[in-house]
Amino acid sequence: MHPSCTLVIFGATGNLSQIKLLPALYHLELGGHLAPSVRIIGFGRRDWSDEHWRGEVRTSLGEQLGERADAQVLERLLERLVFVEGDLEADAGFERLASRLRDTAEGFPPNLAFYLAIAPAFYGEVADRLATQGLHRPEHGWSRLVVEKPFGYDLESAEILDEHLRRHFNEDQVYRIDHYLGKSTVQNVLVFRFANLLLEPLWNRNYIDHVQITHGEARGIGSRAGFYDGVGALRDMIQSHLLQMLTLVAMEPPPSMDAEALRDEKVKVLRSIRPVPRQAVHAQAFRAQYRAGEQGGERVPGYLEEEGVDPHSTTETYAALKLYIDNWRWRGVPFYVRTGKRLGATNSLIAIRFRHPPQQLFSDTPIEQLKPNWLLLNIQPNECMRFELLVKQPGLTMRTQTETLDASTCSIGRDQMDAYEGLILDVLQGDHSLFLRSDEVLHAWRVVDPVLKLWAIERDYIHTYEASTWGPAEANRLFDKEDQHWRDGLDA
Ligand code: BG6
Repeated sequence: MHPSCTLVIFGATGNLSQIKLLPALYHLELGGHLAPSVRIIGFGRRDWSDEHWRGEVRTSLGEQLGERADAQVLERLLERLVFVEGDLEADAGFERLASRLRDTAEGFPPNLAFYLAIAPAFYGEVADRLATQGLHRPEHGWSRLVVEKPFGYDLESAEILDEHLRRHFNEDQVYRIDHYLGKSTVQNVLVFRFANLLLEPLWNRNYIDHVQITHGEARGIGSRAGFYDGVGALRDMIQSHLLQMLTLVAMEPPPSMDAEALRDEKVKVLRSIRPVPRQAVHAQAFRAQYRAGEQGGERVPGYLEEEGVDPHSTTETYAALKLYIDNWRWRGVPFYVRTGKRLGATNSLIAIRFRHPPQQLFSDTPIEQLKPNWLLLNIQPNECMRFELLVKQPGLTMRTQTETLDASTCSIGRDQMDAYEGLILDVLQGDHSLFLRSDEVLHAWRVVDPVLKLWAIERDYIHTYEASTWGPAEANRLFDKEDQHWRDGLDA
C-alpha cells in the first residue's frame, strides 16, 4: 500500500487522462494499491460538479473496459474523485483548488501530486500559479510535479522550461515521465543484462557488430496534427523513448539500483554519444513522410492529406539516425534508431547483431554465407526475447539453418501492468528511478539538436514512402556495410 496523497490531474478531461491515467488508476484500485484515503482531483475548464465528472469517468471507463469492468471497484474509484473547475491561464481556479485542499472538512491528504496532463506550453504557468497558492511547499506533507514529454522543443527551449520549473520546484519534486521506462520489457533490458552473467563478456565492441532500435507504428497521426505537424518523428519518439532504450542497452552496470546511480549511468551514455557534425547529418540521419497507401485492403491517406496538416508540410513521419558512443565499450559500434508512422506493422524491437566468427571454417562447404547471430528483444506488442543461432541442417550435406531460442515462448509480458500504473505508484512512493533527471533530458536534446537544426533549414524537399511499408529504401544508406539491413520485427 502506498502513502496517502491527493492526486491533482490538470487536463482531467483530456485524452491522456481518459485513455491512460484513469484506466491506470482503475487498475491500481482493482489491485488494492491505493491507500483508502487517496483522493483524486480533476482540474479542467468545464463547469462540472464532482458528480458530473464521476458520471463522465464511469461512462468512459465503462466503454474502455467493457465486460472486464468490475462495478464495485469502479464505484470505489469514483468515490475518490472530485472536480475543480479552472482555467490554466487564470488564478481563480487555482484559488478554488487551494481552498478546497485546505478545507479540513473535506479531509484531503496533505501530500500533493500534481499531474500535468496538459500541453507543455502551460507547464511553466501552472507551476507559477501553484506556487502563488503555496501549493509547491505545503505546510504538511510533500508536493510533487509530474510532467509529460515533450520537455521543450529543442535544447534551448528545454533549458528555459527547466529553469522555469526550478524557480518553484526542486529537482527531487519533479517527475519527468517517459512512459517507455514504465514498460516491463524495457525494464527487462536491465534484468537481462545485469542478472545474466553470460552476456557481459559479449556485450561490447569485440562481439557486437551493431545495434538497432526500431519503433514502428501502423497507424498514422490520426487526429493529432495540431501536435504533430512541426514536431515530427525525431522529436516525438527518438529524442525521448528511443534514446532512453538506447541508454539501457549501452549503459555500464550501476553501483546500485537506486535512482541516482541508474540515472548517472544513463547520462554517461548520452554524454558519450558523438555529436553529429553538421556536415555529417546527411550521412547519419534520414527523414521521410508517408504517402497514401493501402492498409488491410483499404486506402489510407498520405500525411499531407491528414486533417489539420499543412499541405506543404515537410514534417517527418519517419526518422532514422546512426549514432556512435565514444566510450571504451562501444567505440566504433553503430547504433541505429528508427521510428515511423504508417509503417508495415506496429512493433518495437531492440535488435543486436553479433559479428561474424573470425574464421570462416565452413567456407569450402555449400554454406554460401554464414548468417550472423541476432539477439532480439521485442518490446511490444509481444514481449519476447529471442536468440538466433545457426545449426546444421539434418542430412548429409553441410548446410546451416537459423534456429531461434525464445525466452518463455514469448509470454514474458503476459498480464503485465500498463506502464502508467507503475509510474503513478512510483510518484506516490517517491521513487525517481524510472523518471528522467533534468540533465538527462538536456543531454538527449544535445544528441538530436544538430539534426533538427539542419532539417529546419532544409524545408524544400523530403523523401516519401508508401503507407504500410517500412520506409524508403534510401534509408539503407545509413548502413556502413553491404550485409547490414533493417530488422523490422522478430521474423523479418
Ligand atoms: C508518444 C508519442 O509519446 O508515444 C506518440 O507522442 C506515439 O506519437 C506513442 O504514438 C507511442 O507509445 P506506445 O506506448 O503506444 O508505443
